[in-house]
Amino acid sequence: TIGEVAEDIGFKAYAVGGFVRDLLQKQKNLDLDIVVEGDGIIFAKQLVKTLGGRVRTHDRFKTANITLANGFKIDVATARLEYYEYPAALPTVELSSIKLDLYRRDFTINAMALQLNPALFGTLIDFFSCQNDLKDKLIKVLHNLSFVEDPSRILRAVRFEKRMDFKIARHTERLIHGAVKMDLFGKTNNPRIFTELKQIFEEENPILAIRRLADLELFQFLWPDLLPNLKIDRRFLHIIRQAQQAISWFHLLYLDEPIEPWRVYLLAIMARSRPRQIETFCERFQIHDHICRELIIQKLTADEIGNKLYGRIPEKNSEINQMLKNLTNEGLLYLMAIARKKEIKKTVSLYVTSLRNVQSLLNGDDLKKLGYIPGEQFKKMFSDITDARLDGLVKSREDEKQFIL
Ligand code: CTP
Repeated sequence: TIGEVAEDIGFKAYAVGGFVRDLLQKQKNLDLDIVVEGDGIIFAKQLVKTLGGRVRTHDRFKTANITLANGFKIDVATARLEYYEYPAALPTVELSSIKLDLYRRDFTINAMALQLNPALFGTLIDFFSCQNDLKDKLIKVLHNLSFVEDPSRILRAVRFEKRMDFKIARHTERLIHGAVKMDLFGKTNNPRIFTELKQIFEEENPILAIRRLADLELFQFLWPDLLPNLKIDRRFLHIIRQAQQAISWFHLLYLDEPIEPWRVYLLAIMARSRPRQIETFCERFQIHDHICRELIIQKLTADEIGNKLYGRIPEKNSEINQMLKNLTNEGLLYLMAIARKKEIKKTVSLYVTSLRNVQSLLNGDDLKKLGYIPGEQFKKMFSDITDARLDGLVKSREDEKQFIL
C-alpha cells in the first residue's frame, strides 16, 4: 500500500535505516523509516488518507511522523539534493537523491534501502556493499567526516557494537580515536549526545558499552570530574553491575510502573560525584532543571539512607517504610546499586514488593462512622494504622478499630 500511494503521486518511496538492517537480520523493529524522492509531506498526508492514523508534519525539514491506529509508527523524510552540502563536495549531479541520502547516514549497516513502489517492491538497494558489512558484523562509517559531522555517532557505534555483538571496523575505530584527540566531543554540547547516551542506558545490558566508552577515552568528555581518579575500578563496576541487576529484577516484577533506567545508570556512574558535578553534567547536555534537581535529590537521599542502612537495618517495618518513602523507583534502584551489604538490597526489595503497598483495612467512611472528621487528623490516623499493620500490631478490621480507640 505504501508503495502504491507513492506510485499514485509519482514519487519513489524507500524503507531505510534500522528497519532494513533489522529485517535482514530477522530482528523485530517497530519503527519504519521511509525516504521519498519527491515531497515527504504530500506523501505522508496521502498515506494517512489511505491508511488512517495521525500525521505530524515539519515543513522546514520536509519530514513527517505518522502514527497508525494500531500504534505502528512511520517516519517520513524527503531525499533532497540541495540538502546535502559537503565540505568535500561530491559530484552531486551523478547521484540520485536516495544514494546521497544513504551516503549521509551513520554506518553502512544502516545505509541500505528497500524499494517500495509496486514494480520493484522489495528490491534491496545497496550502493556501498553494506550487506557484506552486515554479514561480517562490522560497524563502518561511510566517509571520513562522519564523526566530525555528528560526534554522537561515536556513541551509536558503541551501542550497535555491543547490542548486536558486532565489531567497530579498524578504520572507523581510528576515526573515533582521531575525533577524541581533536576534542570533537568536548566542543559540542549537542543534545544528541545525551540522547544517544540515554539510548545506551536503555539497552538490556549496557555494561559492555559503558566499558567500551571508557576504553575509547570518552569518559573525559562525558564525566570529566571522574577523571582525576578515573579508575574503572572494582567498586565502579560493581555498582554498575548491581544497577543492571536491580533494573532487571524490577522489570521481572511486572509492576506496570514505567521506570527510566537511564536515571539509575547515570546516578550509578556518578555515585562518587558531588551535586555540583551532576549539575555541570546536566548543564552540558541541556537536561531540564527539574530533572536535574530530581536526580540530585534522589541521589543525596539514597546515599544517606545507604549509609544508615549500612550501620543498621531497622527492625520495624514501619521504620523501613518511613525511611524509603521519599525515594522514586529510580532512587530505590540506585540505592540497591550502591548497597554495600546483601541485607540492604533485601530490605529495599521487601519494601518495593510488599511494605509500600500495605494499607489500612478501614477506609474514610469507616472513620466517619466512628465519629471522626475528615481532614489532617484522618491522614495521621491512616498512617498510624498502616504503621501498626506493618509492624504486625493489628491484623483485622476489628483490630484496627480497637487500635484507634
Ligand atoms: N542516523 C544517522 N545518524 C545519526 C542518527 C541516525 O545517520 N546520528 C540514521 C541511521 O541511518 C539510522 C536512522 O537514521 O538507521 C534512524 O535512526 P534511529 O531511529 O536513531 O536508529 P535505528 O537505526 O533505527 O536504531 P534503533 O534500532 O536503535 O532504533
